[in-house]
Amino acid sequence: MTNIEELRAQLLGRIAASAQPRDILKADEIKQLYSVIPTLEPSERGTYGKAVNELKIALEAAVAAREAEVENAAVEPLDVTAPWDVNTGPVSLLPTDQGTQHPLTSELERIIDIFTRMGFEAHESRQIDDDWNMFGALNFPENHPARDGYDSFRTEEGFIPPAHTSTMQNRVLKAGKAKLEAGGYIASVSYGRVFRNEDVDTTHDHTFYQQEGIYVSETANLGQMIAVLKSFYEAYFEQGMNIKTQPGYFPFVEPGLEFCIERPASIGGKPGDWLEMLGCGMIHPNVLRAANIDSEKYRGFAWGGGVERMIMLRHGIEDLRHFESGKLQFLRKFA
Ligand code: DAH
Repeated sequence: MTNIEELRAQLLGRIAASAQPRDILKADEIKQLYSVIPTLEPSERGTYGKAVNELKIALEAAVAAREAEVENAAVEPLDVTAPWDVNTGPVSLLPTDQGTQHPLTSELERIIDIFTRMGFEAHESRQIDDDWNMFGALNFPENHPARDGYDSFRTEEGFIPPAHTSTMQNRVLKAGKAKLEAGGYIASVSYGRVFRNEDVDTTHDHTFYQQEGIYVSETANLGQMIAVLKSFYEAYFEQGMNIKTQPGYFPFVEPGLEFCIERPASIGGKPGDWLEMLGCGMIHPNVLRAANIDSEKYRGFAWGGGVERMIMLRHGIEDLRHFESGKLQFLRKFA
């Protein structure tokens, strides 16, 4: 019996030190323990057999534990919260030198940067919303045909993946009300993903990005809005721009306008080559009232439009569908 105890201590030591502990289970010493059994008195065999079995079970457990230890040690520890570079060790799990920013990310940063330099706050828009923010708060009457232009999807519970970033207007107005009433103003840009039930082609996708601005004060006017937007496009395209507005209908503005730029020669434009870039106008009093803002005292302007179209113009991209395609050939152009 002491023999078994000694052997146990010795084998456990060897298992703990081995990189392939399972081999130790085949050790000759263990086989010999079994070969002894027939030479024992029948009365001793039971106790002896039990001791050998216990030893086997203990060794099996030690082997399994050691195997797990060996396996864990072979895997580089991966800190998922760390920047990629920290995790490139001898086992390079992540191709850190190959990634690039998606053009939508870098261009949105560029757009937001221009507006924040003008004094606007920026917030990402929501990707799931409700009927009130999508329509009610924006002065769309129930069953009004203008709703058809914003045909999005709906969950069974009635939630809506927003068809425009204007869904953020009521929230922005409510959040800015106190500042406004303290003698300040509201200046905010919302940007993010929007969704529409669209037939997909080179200029339409079911998923795309918009950016949307709101400015409210006691004296806001269309002249200021046109100046803000013209300055914005001049900063974005890095040159002087010709602009014009034309009437446009949106229930949440009055008057409502479409803002157009003349495609500059530097990106293949000819004089008279007008492109409609976004919708805008003076915020409808009902929209201010929906946020409990005194529409007699305060006035505001707002605008909103697609982001991809701007990026396509600036970079000469011919197909809108590239953005959500994940095509490396396209993405690498922006490396
Ligand atoms: N939400 C409109 C659209 O997606 C665009 C728009 C028009 C936004 C006028 C505005 C606005 O804020 O004032 O078609």
